[in-house]
Amino acid sequence: MRLDQLTVKISTQLLQAGITENDLESQLLIRKALNISKESYFADLQTDISQVEIKNINRLVERRINREPLPYICNHREFYGLDLYVDRRVLIPRQETEIMVDKAIGFLKSTPYKNQKIKILDLCTGSGAIAITLAKLFPESIIYATDISSDALQVAKINCFAHNVSRDVNLICLDGLSGFVGEVDLILANPPYLSKKEIGEVQPELLFEPDLALYGGLEGWEKTVQLINSVCEILNGGGKAFFETSPERIDSITSKISNNKNIDTLEYHLDGLGNNRLIEISV
Ligand SMILES: C[S@@+](CC[C@H](N)C(=O)[O-])C[C@H]1O[C@@H](n2cnc3c(N)ncnc32)[C@H](O)[C@@H]1O
Repeated sequence: MRLDQLTVKISTQLLQAGITENDLESQLLIRKALNISKESYFADLQTDISQVEIKNINRLVERRINREPLPYICNHREFYGLDLYVDRRVLIPRQETEIMVDKAIGFLKSTPYKNQKIKILDLCTGSGAIAITLAKLFPESIIYATDISSDALQVAKINCFAHNVSRDVNLICLDGLSGFVGEVDLILANPPYLSKKEIGEVQPELLFEPDLALYGGLEGWEKTVQLINSVCEILNGGGKAFFETSPERIDSITSKISNNKNIDTLEYHLDGLGNNRLIEISV
């Protein structure tokens, strides 16, 4: 069978399995299995594919039909223009999270830290997406990236190495902030926020992501509230913390942290769909 014919066949199989970006995914799965670039793929469309190659491709297609997310199968996700390695040890970084990075960049550019290194904490780092993006953009800063999952930190380590920031990003295995020593100027966090009920109702792809990255507590807001209260203890005056959460959690979180005397102001930012998703905390 020729490559173009195989592409159409797989695309149809994916569509029948309910996968709507079937044409693109068909191409990406084939390229992953054959380990070829986009250019080689298009150059080879008329080429015959061997039985061994077809078997390898079908193995990946099977995984996708079973609803394993494409980034896990291809071990790749783009975040803020960076190519990241991902596997089932980490949450697949989401595009919404780039909004938090944008806000952090705005803060860093407007902050007069001219003669002193700014300290940044990426709390709940997962793949290291946020920490690595900031390390590339602000090489003079000191960056900590923490996570409770040592498995996730292994993936973050791979990404730090691939992006040449292993010396700039300090990876630390911590439960929340217990044991974190020192103070920082900026904190970014995308903690897990699904409730117990929501975990039971998620789309099949989400079930492949780590429980630790999804489950935020019985009501979903618990982990975020606990972390917000603890970050206020380590944030320098004039510093900021950004927390991404679900729009459904914003009101509960706001009411639970309203009596925190360390918080000076709270602001909210919208996601691409016009929902409040990001909490900006000033102390
Ligand atoms: C939603 S993922 C976010 C990953 C990454 N920051 C991103 O935006 O793609 C949440 C991460 O929080 C970590 N986590 C969960 N509970 C934690 C805790 N108590 N302390 C530190 N990290 C925790 C999980 O292991 C997971 O990597």
